[in-house]
Amino acid sequence: MLPLFVFLVLLLPALPLPRASADICIVGAGISGASTAFFLTNYTTSLHGAQLRVFERRHRVGGRLATVAVAGDHFEAGGSIIHPRNLHARRFADLLGLAVKAGGDDDWLGIWDGKRFVFQTLRPLPPGSSWWRRKLHGLLNSLLLLRRYGLSLLKMDKFVQEMLQRFMLFYNGFESRPVFATVEEMLKWTGLYGLTRRTLEEELLDAGLSSQTIAELVTVITRINYGQSTRISGLAGAVSLAGSESGLWAVKGGNWQLAAGLLKTSNATLHLQEGIDSITDAGDYYVLRSNTGNEYNCTATVVATPLDEMNITFSPPISIPPRKMQHTHATFVRGLLNPGYFGLNSASSIPELIGTLELPDIPFSCISVLKRYSEDDMTYKMFSCAKLDDGLLDQIFSARKETIRINWAAYPHYEAPEEFAPIVLDGKQLYYVNTFESAASAMETGAVAAENVARLIISRLSLPMRGVEPPGPHIKSFAGEDEEGSWRRHVEDL
Ligand SMILES: Cc1cc2nc3c(=O)[nH]c(=O)nc-3n(C[C@H](O)[C@H](O)[C@H](O)COP(=O)(O)OP(=O)(O)OC[C@H]3O[C@@H](n4cnc5c(N)ncnc54)[C@H](O)[C@@H]3O)c2cc1C
Ligand SMILES: *[C@@H]1O[C@H](CO)[C@@H](O)[C@H](O)[C@H]1NC(C)=O
Ligand SMILES: *[C@@H]1O[C@H](CO)[C@@H](O)[C@H](O)[C@H]1NC(C)=O
Ligand SMILES: *[C@@H]1O[C@H](CO)[C@@H](O)[C@H](O)[C@H]1NC(C)=O
Ligand SMILES: *[C@@H]1O[C@H](CO)[C@@H](O)[C@H](O)[C@H]1NC(C)=O
Repeated sequence: MLPLFVFLVLLLPALPLPRASADICIVGAGISGASTAFFLTNYTTSLHGAQLRVFERRHRVGGRLATVAVAGDHFEAGGSIIHPRNLHARRFADLLGLAVKAGGDDDWLGIWDGKRFVFQTLRPLPPGSSWWRRKLHGLLNSLLLLRRYGLSLLKMDKFVQEMLQRFMLFYNGFESRPVFATVEEMLKWTGLYGLTRRTLEEELLDAGLSSQTIAELVTVITRINYGQSTRISGLAGAVSLAGSESGLWAVKGGNWQLAAGLLKTSNATLHLQEGIDSITDAGDYYVLRSNTGNEYNCTATVVATPLDEMNITFSPPISIPPRKMQHTHATFVRGLLNPGYFGLNSASSIPELIGTLELPDIPFSCISVLKRYSEDDMTYKMFSCAKLDDGLLDQIFSARKETIRINWAAYPHYEAPEEFAPIVLDGKQLYYVNTFESAASAMETGAVAAENVARLIISRLSLPMRGVEPPGPHIKSFAGEDEEGSWRRHVEDL
């Protein structure tokens, strides 16, 4: 008996033991899920043998970062511009070797009230204009803005700079930045929590902006960025105002490449076209069931998608505050705008970026020229809260060769005071990155939230940290790449 017993004991370690908890699983391959995967591998030396799995129900990664092809050319359909002080995004692009380009070159802004343009900047100079002409042009645009909005422009800039300064604390090193268990803690630590308690309008009135500036310029910006009015909460508002500054950029060929590159760098196993239907707590681990019939045992599970319109069944059920997603209909048109619709005689008199006031009769939030093929052949992008039907488009456009419509569950519908779902959904190992979107939705806020979740998992699973600190905020400046100088630049120059 003894020899056989010894034999069995020796054999034991080699037997395939059922491993109850093996993987770390991420639901969603947008920038949040990809960043979580990246930071988990970047900050640890080992995942204790766990495999990193990322599930994506669609056939592509990137989520709300996607390009659309209109008549053969590709354009950003979702998240398009990145702020120069978005350090994670900038670091990702550098690390992944992605080329970047200046974004937001919407020179010629017109503010539409449904009947006429109440304000316009100067139409752009022809390409190749001399340096002094461009300077003069910029100066005149600054004077135009100053004449209409006065000192409110400076106050608006100060408001945005204060927010950015606080936001930059999220890039501090580990020693001077705690790991946060709730969004409230994250925001209170940076001094940004108060901004989520009140509307942007209330904040800006307190900051001394004129009602006219809020009703026109600020409204145009919040409608472009979040499809909502200045009654959105203050932090989301400040983030959208930052998106009207100069130095904005984008990844050449599409921002979705950030997500794709991060997933590759992290060596995560990517399960494309595999949606997670249910997440069941099985004691020491979670069982994830997918729509392809597979099951996965996961030590920790990260939900990296907004749960508001999702059908993931949690057992036991989780409870999070209700949140509505604001839908933005992006409509791409190759053709020509109808000058008659805008009360003008020729299409060449229509501004390249049409912003709108918050009035019920205006059916769109904004229209911008994406590419000019000739004087009467262009590609436009429109955002609206509701679908733009063919009848309406036929009024707005005099020619329409191609039309593409995308209905995005785009970002939360902001309502101060914001309520935040927990980051740790069940007090155990179930994490939620997109609770942070209730503060502000952007690529960078996704990365910031993901970085914190990665640190939280590392500390709560006691994974071994890599000895080195993440690099400090030493980032190449974009100064000079925005030579054209957008109307945003003029605001800053004042
Ligand atoms: C029109 C528009 C314009 C925008 N403009 C900007 C901008 O200029 N700058 C900026 O910074 N931000 C912008 N944003 C916001 C920005 O795009 C988003 O905040 C960001 O991309 C969200 O990334 P995410 O990874 O958190 O979520 P998502 O990108 O939504 O990723 C979630 C992923 O999870 C997948 N998924 C969902 N459920 C499941 C499931 N059950 N199983 C498996 N997979 C699942 C989804 O398919 C998706 O790929 C814009 C957004 C829109 C819609
Ligand atoms: C999950 O763990 C259980 C319990 O150990 C085991 O029976 C099951 O086979 C595992 N499933 C997978 C897919 O590994
Ligand atoms: C971690 O990220 C930094 C850039 O942020 C990069 O330089 C470094 O190579 C990464 N390390 C690993 C192991 O991924
Ligand atoms: C990913 O895999 C490659 C090849 O196996 C390896 O060289 C690299 O170090 C891995 N990266 C991480 C972050 O584990
Ligand atoms: C969720 O389920 C409801 C009802 O079962 C269905 O109508 C809806 O389309 C589903 N949503 C998604 C995103 O699958």
